[in-house]
Amino acid sequence: MSHERTYRIAPSLLSADFSRLGEEVRAVVAAGADWLHFDVMDNHYVPNLTFGPMVCQALRKHCTVPIDVHLMVQPVDALATAFAKAGADLISFHPDASTHVDRTLQLIRAEGCQAGLVFNPATPLDVLEWVIDKVDLVLVMSVNPGFGGQGFIDSALRKVQKARRLIDAERARSGRDIRLEVDGGIKVENIRRVADAGADTFVAGSAVFGQPDYGAVIGAMRRALAA
Ligand code: DX5
Ligand code: ZN
Repeated sequence: MSHERTYRIAPSLLSADFSRLGEEVRAVVAAGADWLHFDVMDNHYVPNLTFGPMVCQALRKHCTVPIDVHLMVQPVDALATAFAKAGADLISFHPDASTHVDRTLQLIRAEGCQAGLVFNPATPLDVLEWVIDKVDLVLVMSVNPGFGGQGFIDSALRKVQKARRLIDAERARSGRDIRLEVDGGIKVENIRRVADAGADTFVAGSAVFGQPDYGAVIGAMRRALAA
């Protein structure tokens, strides 16, 4: 069965100018961002500290596209709920950071958000088999979480291929589509290769915010995907 794939580009605010976050959000949305990727780090699960639900809530009114919250926090549940109330559209977490993965997925969906699971470079996809019916998004990390601007880890491509097979099997079973997002080291030069492995959604932090013309980068990514 052939399935038309629609690609989404999700610039990560982690590489934006934190002294002008509202402006940066408006600029990247105007430049063609499909989603806004919002990296939440707690200096516990990852060795870095970013922003919490109050910042998400403040930016919500500046953002006309879905907010894709990537929780790099432990524990997960209380912050997941807080981000849902702060206007997040999608909320993803690392299964190794939650004691009860199934419960956390249910909690996110009960708040009216889409729920995602995130897999680190050395984390297998094993839990997915048991909860795939409650998952709306699979996020494969192609860097170790915690920082922007790192190099793409190639083994992520094999994991994307494997996740694609599981997602396609779930669609054949239930008719439900699950997004397959890749995060870390995505650039104009490698986005096509990541799409060929099976990804349909691409986080890009430094590649977008590191250039003066965000629209030019997003446009070049779309051309690479269409080629
Ligand atoms: C890393 C974050 C990523 C990061 C990606 O922990 O999850 O979203 O911002 O940044 P780049 O695109 O620069 O690798
Ligand atoms: Zn991220």
